[in-house]
Amino acid sequence: HEESHITDYSFPFEGPFGTYDQAQLQRGMKVYTEVCSSCHGLKFVPIRSVGDESGPNLPDAQVRAYAEFFEIWDPTMADGQGDFRPATPTDTFPESSMANAPDLSLMAKARAGFHGPYGLGINQFLKGMGGPEYIASLMTGYTGEQRTQAGATLYENTAFPGGWIAMPPPLYGDDVSFDTDAPTDLESLSKDVSAFLMWTAEPKLAARKQAGFTGVLMLSVLAVLLYLTNKRIWAPIK
Ligand code: HEM
Repeated sequence: HEESHITDYSFPFEGPFGTYDQAQLQRGMKVYTEVCSSCHGLKFVPIRSVGDESGPNLPDAQVRAYAEFFEIWDPTMADGQGDFRPATPTDTFPESSMANAPDLSLMAKARAGFHGPYGLGINQFLKGMGGPEYIASLMTGYTGEQRTQAGATLYENTAFPGGWIAMPPPLYGDDVSFDTDAPTDLESLSKDVSAFLMWTAEPKLAARKQAGFTGVLMLSVLAVLLYLTNKRIWAPIK
């Protein structure tokens, strides 16, 4: 078993005060839409959430136009026989169209990038879970080697556990174009799509951190008050 290699890429949503970069989520969404969605799905993600303020924050008209890009199977169409129709914002993203391509809704939280040492998970404590780092490393980890095994083509990848993955390299660099001057090299696109998939897996990240910070702040105030109370209570005895 070969050790898989994960690069500790940095993301704007890391750390106790990190938040998503809206422009990066929009770029990652474009990569997902134009490249990944031909095989993978996001069946747990409502399309309307791309209009969320804490997410890609697309204006309403763009959310509607974006939804129509996807065809979904609707069992109520054609007098109950079912038919495909363009999606609307209230639908979820389509599921994976390719049987062995896993759904990516929660992938950034389902995979860890950092482990050990010795099963203690100290690397996770110091560097985070590393789901987005894993996905970005997977995108950049192809060596160019491939082999056929039991009729299936496998591609050598330094991030994938075991070293050989059934997914052909999805990104090469310059796979999509942006209206901004954001870079489109392989590493940049890989980080962008990983950030987008982190958002689909944890859309409430900013709210969670905010609540955590408020909690810590309240506990700090309480700790000071309890310290002073304790002093006063014991003052006559000491
Ligand atoms: C697996 C991401 C495009 C086919 C995966 C996995 C991730 C991923 C994270 C899971 C790896 C694991 O189990 O740890 C992406 C991203 C894409 C993309 C971010 C776009 C940039 C594609 C495309 C295809 C595809 C276009 C089809 C041509 C597959 C297949 C697997 C897979 C078949 C299963 C591989 C295996 O278990 O050996 N992908 N993917 N993916 N993907 Fe993709």
